[in-house]
Amino acid sequence: MKVTVVGAGAVGATCADNIARKELATELVILDIKEGLAEGKAQDMMQTATLLGFDTKVVGSTNDYSKTAGSNVVVITSGIPRKPGMTREELIGTNAGIVKTVCENILKHSPDAIIIVISNPMDTMTYLALQSTGLPKNRIIGMGGTLDSSRFKYQLSQHLGCSPSDLNAVVVGGHGDTTMIPLIRLATWNSAPVTDFLSKEQQDKIVADTMVGGATLTKLIGTSAWYAPGAAGAALVESIIRDEKKLFTCCVALNGEYGQKDICLGVPVTIGKNGWEKILDFKLNESEQAAFNKSAEAVRAMNDVLKTL
Ligand code: 2OP
Repeated sequence: MKVTVVGAGAVGATCADNIARKELATELVILDIKEGLAEGKAQDMMQTATLLGFDTKVVGSTNDYSKTAGSNVVVITSGIPRKPGMTREELIGTNAGIVKTVCENILKHSPDAIIIVISNPMDTMTYLALQSTGLPKNRIIGMGGTLDSSRFKYQLSQHLGCSPSDLNAVVVGGHGDTTMIPLIRLATWNSAPVTDFLSKEQQDKIVADTMVGGATLTKLIGTSAWYAPGAAGAALVESIIRDEKKLFTCCVALNGEYGQKDICLGVPVTIGKNGWEKILDFKLNESEQAAFNKSAEAVRAMNDVLKTL
């Protein structure tokens, strides 16, 4: 199996590092436009191989897409990250051009690749990737909800005093500070509803802290986070490569599911060798569906900006 990560910044490099450590690919290509950056990070990673005990061959490339030829999965992380105080949406002008060009170049050399989009604003970049490539919808997956759900479990675990791994919890909707919807009503601690163990105030705080999870880290670090975004990308690659059919929230093209059409938005999906395979209907209640519709409206407005670029 061959995997390419486009963008050797912090998120791309962390994603690649996780892919190498887990030996998800025989060959892993990291590509970046900045001269030498991808080669340097690939070499640094290869020098951990004997220490960590992996056999993946990691190769760097400065914008030479021929090196990515025959990739089964491609993760796109390229674009500028947000700075403190910036929303993900403010990145659209710069990142749209980058993501479109990357998709074109990738498909020239890997026409069968499944594409995972991490670049922000992620919902709109996923929609752009789908529209501009014309690929079957199952082969375009936006990563956002996978990360947000992991952050949601972290916030829950802090209040419950439990292992995040014992929690099942999903965030649906957009990957924006005001568009994501942590579904606390449906979250469970093993099989028990978490709401049985949390006050209303705690629940509200967990939801609010999850929604600004990325912004909180951007403020603390001075730039966008990378450990969890990179790991979330690698978890999706793993489910595809190993055909695990695990359930993740991902940004995918909706055609009537959750009451929406002509949009890519975060919903629970199974991820396997064909990309995203099945959308699960989580039966939202009235207020959750209203929040989902509002989220769709905001993402649609952002998608409309693409027409003006
Ligand atoms: C985040 O939320 C990078 O969008 C990503 O940290």
